[in-house]
Amino acid sequence: MPAFTTAPDFVVTGATVVSHDGRRHQDIAVRDGRILAVGDGLATEGIPAVDATGLMVLPGLVDMHVHLREPGMTEKEDFASGTRAAAAGGVTTVVDMPNTKPPVATAERYRQKLELVRNKAYVDFGLYGMIDHDNDGEIAGMAELGAMGFKLFMGQTTGDNRCPNDAAIFRGLEAAAAADLVVGVHAENDHLLRMFGDRLRDSGRKDPRAHLEGRPAFVEVEAVTRIVTMATEAGAKLHIHHLSTAAGLRRVMDLRAQGHRVTIETLVAHLFLDDTAYDTHGNLVKLNPPIRPAADVDALWAGIARGDVDIIATDHAPHTADEQAETDVWQAYGGFIGVETMLPLLLTAAAQGKLTVEDIVRLCAYRPAQRWSIAGKGQIAAGYDADFVLVDPTAESTLDAASLHSKHTVTPYHGWPLTGSVVATYVRGRLVYEKGEIIGEPTGRQVLPVREPAAVAR
Ligand code: DOR
Ligand code: ZN
Repeated sequence: MPAFTTAPDFVVTGATVVSHDGRRHQDIAVRDGRILAVGDGLATEGIPAVDATGLMVLPGLVDMHVHLREPGMTEKEDFASGTRAAAAGGVTTVVDMPNTKPPVATAERYRQKLELVRNKAYVDFGLYGMIDHDNDGEIAGMAELGAMGFKLFMGQTTGDNRCPNDAAIFRGLEAAAAADLVVGVHAENDHLLRMFGDRLRDSGRKDPRAHLEGRPAFVEVEAVTRIVTMATEAGAKLHIHHLSTAAGLRRVMDLRAQGHRVTIETLVAHLFLDDTAYDTHGNLVKLNPPIRPAADVDALWAGIARGDVDIIATDHAPHTADEQAETDVWQAYGGFIGVETMLPLLLTAAAQGKLTVEDIVRLCAYRPAQRWSIAGKGQIAAGYDADFVLVDPTAESTLDAASLHSKHTVTPYHGWPLTGSVVATYVRGRLVYEKGEIIGEPTGRQVLPVREPAAVAR
């Protein structure tokens, strides 16, 4: 019998615990929302046991890129529906983007958003602030309120936020560096993509593929090169969201070889869909940056295999069912839901040998928590939050949009065969999802980045 100094609330037994660097058959003891111990033979008489025999236990996924649409666009999604979807997808922490109405670009707006959403979340959440065309004076204030980092839209997307010019970008990078927080970038050159878009529109094109043609790879390459160059000079921690092209990845590798430090993310959508999806799904798969030809998809998978890609995220970007059915590409919105389907799709890829479950943990939990300095997340280890997901890695099923938890459940993955399913999700020791059902009330909390004391004191 294990010698606990304090008795656990419950013990998960019989599972294979998968971490970023291996898997072991071990028990997990939980107390007060934290992991008390991980080891052999922790089951103890009189202590409730969760029998997970035959299942894998993974750290709860940390999705650094979701759009839950509060405030201002709750017809698309809200914090309750979006975080229910997260719970059902084994995602225990989401970090929400600031391109809302109004955008989260001032400390006051940040405070209002936190107030608005704080009691609605079923999983833990962080909030980004935005770097806009003239708000470097607001960065420190948002940081003090707990901003996880800052999103910089170099290219225009949902919300119609004015993209900052290079001087504003540089001032924003300096302010973020002073606050010791990561700047995450949507790296597309706005002037170029507007010009190409206008040309295609003027030529009479309205079809979904025009979106891809209007955002060629070099638009991403140029923005990546410019932002990496500026971030190094400003001393800012830089992350590139949704890198989508082979050429963009090559440029990042060149820049890293020159000593620039930057992390990169690929989206589930850019890994699982190629440009044939425009023919099947039309504007539902309109995404910024766009779904690319198969050669780009292959390059991103190769980047994952080599360890060059740091993070996989969803860019969960809900729109209403009507909006997703729009047939004119210029009227259609970019993005679609994804937070609930990430883990089943990645488990299916793992079953096919495209990556390992350890890779999934590294890319979707361990590295995100490490990169954004989120204490207590991303690992199953003593002292960490008891955020974990029980998965059945061999369960065969068919993805059904009707079973999803978002406000609007249209998804390009409807009908896809799956190997691997989410059985149950725990957030800080609380069962929040089990076998199709959301359990209990929203008790998600805001997560904060751990900042260097020197930066906090400034
Ligand atoms: O397609 C996209 N949709 N890309 C983005 O960068 C933003 C997102 C949204 O908010 O709808
Ligand atoms: Zn996004």
